[in-house]
Amino acid sequence: MTRAQRLPLRSPVLATPLQVGPVRLDTNLLLAPIAGWCDLAWRMTCRELGGVGLACTDLLSPRGLLCGSEASLDLARTNEFDRPIGMQLYGSDPALLADGARWCADHGATVVDLNMGCPVDKVCKKDGGSKLMCDPARAVRIAQAVRTALPDAIPLTAKMRLGWSEADFERGAACSLAVRLARVGVAMITVHGRTTEQMFKGECRREGIRRVVEAVAEATGPYTATPRGGIPVVGNGDVRTPDDAISMLRHTGCAGVMIGRGAFAMPWVFRLAWREQLRLRGLPLSLEGEPTEPEKIEIVRRYFDRMLEFRGEQYAMHKIRQKIAWLGKTINGSHCRELKDGVRQAATPREVHRALDHWLAVAPASERAVPPVPA
Ligand SMILES: Cc1cc2nc3c(=O)[nH]c(=O)nc-3n(C[C@H](O)[C@H](O)[C@H](O)COP(=O)(O)O)c2cc1C
Repeated sequence: MTRAQRLPLRSPVLATPLQVGPVRLDTNLLLAPIAGWCDLAWRMTCRELGGVGLACTDLLSPRGLLCGSEASLDLARTNEFDRPIGMQLYGSDPALLADGARWCADHGATVVDLNMGCPVDKVCKKDGGSKLMCDPARAVRIAQAVRTALPDAIPLTAKMRLGWSEADFERGAACSLAVRLARVGVAMITVHGRTTEQMFKGECRREGIRRVVEAVAEATGPYTATPRGGIPVVGNGDVRTPDDAISMLRHTGCAGVMIGRGAFAMPWVFRLAWREQLRLRGLPLSLEGEPTEPEKIEIVRRYFDRMLEFRGEQYAMHKIRQKIAWLGKTINGSHCRELKDGVRQAATPREVHRALDHWLAVAPASERAVPPVPA
């Protein structure tokens, strides 16, 4: 057993905004990058509801950004409301990633993140994503090159898994990589509590995240939520409710929580999770609770309208048809199926609006009430 493993569980820092290098966030909750979901429209939707301390773009190809490919520029699109924003780069070439990071710095990034966790073949075959966990020396060279390329005001962060394989997990691959990255100036590490071989299935192992928290604290000093002291580790994986977020903080001692799929049906989960932390600490509740059902309809409407504005009709129609099953999951009552079918079958944006208006017109008052917030 290493010294890190013998350290006592650190007490969780509830309701303490994260400090990422020189950047102070409003909360300790992060919206996860999810390719195909986390575009500008989705980030704005989640941010507007409150509680999101930091949101991140999906994977960006540095080559795509540098040669101005339309797909990459769409993914990197941001605006003044979309702050603070992490831009996430993937790849395996230190010089190219450094150039990509400079591009991000010049185009609004608050933070630049390196992807070391993607399990997808297309990314790993080119030695990027979680393949970097198999070549820690290269991962460190990349971090060094990117850190050097960025101005001091822009922190560099990394997102990883517990390793590629079970054997990596056992030998603490994520602990040693996280410590090496911290030593070359990475200002925050996010850990998804699975290995690459697990993909997105099986148990998310908080024990593994806790080990990374302890190893990083031992190497860099305890995290103090100030620009001095150790760097924060963020826990990620299967957080769907405020209680899940609290238990991630408690069981791992992590400084913040990243939520991805949990926001698909509840983009307001961040404000609920922040509110719960404030409540547990006896602090004033600065954010609202669960939205009413008509408010949820308006959330879908604004999300759809933003996709239309930023990406055009074809994209918005395709995405809303795909996502209405998730977005409708928490909408009460007898007319929910009608709403989902109406959106799925809509041929034009007008028909999407009509399906939303129809719900508002026909839903009985009893279904408009705010559902009870779980105790
Ligand atoms: C469809 C899909 C796409 C993803 N795309 C990215 C990505 O672009 N970058 C990244 O770092 N992680 C990506 N992830 C991983 C998530 O950020 C997160 O680590 C994982 O889903 C576990 O967290 P969750 O249970 O809160 O969703 C993706 C996950 C899924 C399911």
